[in-house]
Amino acid sequence: MQKIIFDTDIGVDDAFALAYAAKSMDILGVTTVFGNVPVEQAVSNARLFSQKIGLDVPIYRGSSRPLALAPSAPAWDVHGADGLGGVFDNPWNGAADNAIHFIINSVRAHPDELTLVAIGPLTNIALAINQAPDIVPQIKQLVIMGGAFGTLGNSGNVTPFAEFNIWKDPHAADQVLNSALPVVVLPLDVTHRVRVSGDDIRALRHPVLEAISRSYLQYSLEKEGVEGMALHDTLTIAWLNHPSWFGITESPVRVVTDGISRGQTLRQLNSVASCDDPFAGCRVQKLCLSVEAEKVKKHFLDTLRR
Ligand code: BDR
Ligand code: CA
Repeated sequence: MQKIIFDTDIGVDDAFALAYAAKSMDILGVTTVFGNVPVEQAVSNARLFSQKIGLDVPIYRGSSRPLALAPSAPAWDVHGADGLGGVFDNPWNGAADNAIHFIINSVRAHPDELTLVAIGPLTNIALAINQAPDIVPQIKQLVIMGGAFGTLGNSGNVTPFAEFNIWKDPHAADQVLNSALPVVVLPLDVTHRVRVSGDDIRALRHPVLEAISRSYLQYSLEKEGVEGMALHDTLTIAWLNHPSWFGITESPVRVVTDGISRGQTLRQLNSVASCDDPFAGCRVQKLCLSVEAEKVKKHFLDTLRR
């Protein structure tokens, strides 16, 4: 099994991704970050959810705020009162060891073997590579859920230009995407296309997933006008399990860090620009812009049934 660190601002779709990863990956640890919820709540959610699915892995506390911006509000409206649908007695308890140290030490202990899966703001990853640049060439790959490139009209979910994880900490995202790290990006272009319905979830006979997803399904129907919730973060694990089900475009990526399009992800297209090239010297990254959605959904559901 592939060795991963699972970096999360654990809300509902993060929890689905963790349940899927628990059945298909070797998870060395879960590192938490602010985003959908404050980091203290993320620590509690990771503990509670892991315990409910019988996953025994260490949980670490990461960053509570973005690198440069002022903190912004959590996404209680999407993920419920505690970020996990508000269905459990789930008070905050943020006490846990340091996530950044755990990432650095784990990479050094497993050179070239460890994949980082980041499904929240990229702040922990940026802090780890800033504190220990020697780990960059030792990380096998970084797989992220984030960004939007406008294919099939998928341009943003927090503003018309920006996806939530990137918008939360655009400076960290721009830095990580332009480091020497090999990154695989799962943007809204693909994550909006893989959805599960209430019936799909009920058929799993998984009372915990069923309970935490009720309010998220309601939000998708009322606010996005679609039946079924986007699996978003789950697609990082799907890509690790079956990369051939995704269409990859290779391009450098930059992130807009302020102004009306803060958090927008830009890829290099053909141009006749003659003046300034913001992509000069940037590493080419892998962007997943198409997906065999039915195959991914089926594999996810079948894996959880096992
Ligand atoms: C991303 O935003 C969060 O609310 C989800 O957990 C996912 O990581 C989707 O834009
Ligand atoms: Ca997330």
